[in-house]
Amino acid sequence: MTQEFILETRGLTKEFRGFTAVDDVNLQVQEGHIHALIGPNGAGKTTVFNLLTKFLPPTRGEIRYRGKPITRMKANEIARLGLVRSFQISAVFGHMTALENVRVALQRKLGTSFHFWKPESSLDHLNARALELLDQVGLAEYADVLTVEMPYGRKRALEVATTLALEPTVMLLDEPTQGMGAEDVDRIVELIRRVSKGRTVLMVEHNLSVVSRLCDRITVLARGSVLAEGDYQAVSKNPQVREAYMGSDAAAEEEASA
Ligand SMILES: Nc1ncnc2c1ncn2[C@@H]1O[C@H](COP(=O)(O)OP(=O)(O)O)[C@@H](O)[C@H]1O
Ligand SMILES: [Mg+2]
Repeated sequence: MTQEFILETRGLTKEFRGFTAVDDVNLQVQEGHIHALIGPNGAGKTTVFNLLTKFLPPTRGEIRYRGKPITRMKANEIARLGLVRSFQISAVFGHMTALENVRVALQRKLGTSFHFWKPESSLDHLNARALELLDQVGLAEYADVLTVEMPYGRKRALEVATTLALEPTVMLLDEPTQGMGAEDVDRIVELIRRVSKGRTVLMVEHNLSVVSRLCDRITVLARGSVLAEGDYQAVSKNPQVREAYMGSDAAAEEEASA
């Protein structure tokens, strides 16, 4: 019997005018895992995310969710299945407070699930739920702060809260620690650990220390293809990975500081 993965790609390929950005990728994400997609710039990580979340149609190949093909589904349909992406570029509205941003996300969720007439969608209920989500990401004290006035790291945490509002089964995070200082990185690592309970996370991440601390499984992409796969131990020892991605110096440093 073959194992059923929550998210799987088979022969996933994307060509841009003859240039193959994603080349025959077989990705298998196990339910409950925090799975990292790593690789040098231009490896095809963001393109894989765009294919998984239907921002781009694949040239070839198949995407499966719990064993069922979802290759031809639309973005809103897969979001309804629970496959939700948090954006790298701030998707929150600057002129609204943190609480209002989460409330908008909650209302969007209600809108797509057609329960808007239910009493749970009352403003009080939405506010209470929004506060709960803010609290989950450590932003309770920012509830009434305008988003533009929040520090960068806290804005990224707010994006996680707005993603949680959509009740994802699989959360896709594209470089959640990008541009963050060490203190914010630690906070986001703790946050991802917390919100990953009871769900699956697939994340693109450059920071290898974050990957080593959080991830159960790692897929290394290089030039559109899967170069290696395994846990951090296995992947970081792989000579091809050290050569292509970490560079032997960076890998040595990583080891020395571990
Ligand atoms: N819309 C596009 N049109 C043409 N080429 C693209 C497009 N999107 C990405 N690419 C190319 O595909 C390759 C992979 O890009 P990307 O998926 O963004 O890599 P990564 O996220 O790993 O840095 C790069 O060479 C990039 O220039
Ligand atoms: Mg990218």
